[in-house]
Amino acid sequence: MQEKVAFFKEAVKNFKTSGTIIPSSRFLVKRILSNIDFTNSKLIVEFGSGNGIITKQILKKIEPSTTLVCFEINKVFYNELKKINHKQLIVLNTSAENIQQEIEKFGFKKVDNFISSLPLTMLPKELSQAIIENSYKVLEEKGRFVQFQYSTQFLKQFKAVFNRKVKLDFEPLNIPPAFLYLCEK
Ligand SMILES: C[S@@+](CC[C@H](N)C(=O)[O-])C[C@H]1O[C@@H](n2cnc3c(N)ncnc32)[C@H](O)[C@@H]1O
Repeated sequence: MQEKVAFFKEAVKNFKTSGTIIPSSRFLVKRILSNIDFTNSKLIVEFGSGNGIITKQILKKIEPSTTLVCFEINKVFYNELKKINHKQLIVLNTSAENIQQEIEKFGFKKVDNFISSLPLTMLPKELSQAIIENSYKVLEEKGRFVQFQYSTQFLKQFKAVFNRKVKLDFEPLNIPPAFLYLCEK
């Protein structure tokens, strides 16, 4: 409960970049992760980790040889994420569009899977487009980019970048209910 209250306070203060006021429900987190193949992944990237509600569950699922890199621009959330202190976790206080140069610093060229809860509809159009395109560029063949949103507004943009290989899923047990974009390279 304490974590939820802390998230609420920070999210309200930064509504334009958080895009919500409560963390994802356990039902939504479960549905997101059920769409990821965690086997044989060298690198998994999470965008917009917030206070780590999805991050902690990803860490329970990854293999010992997998690295998880989180991108979070909010300094308070970044500091919370650092406290998770897991040897397979790298937390970055930088924006998602810098994906390529950031993973290269750690010796990675490709990402096996992306999990994103970025509030794309609240970001400047050029920024959201750059994030989707830059992510596609570094995604492994057959890799997945799983994004949740509260609308289907971004379906067209994702389909354009992912050559139409995008499916929709839906989780009603979240506030608000959420659509999942399941994009494959
Ligand atoms: C909807 S919240 C999701 C929080 C958490 N993952 C969850 O599911 O409850 C979106 C998060 O994205 C972060 N964010 C917004 N723009 C970002 C960007 N360009 N790069 C990285 N993180 C960003 C916000 O600070 C916020 O923590």
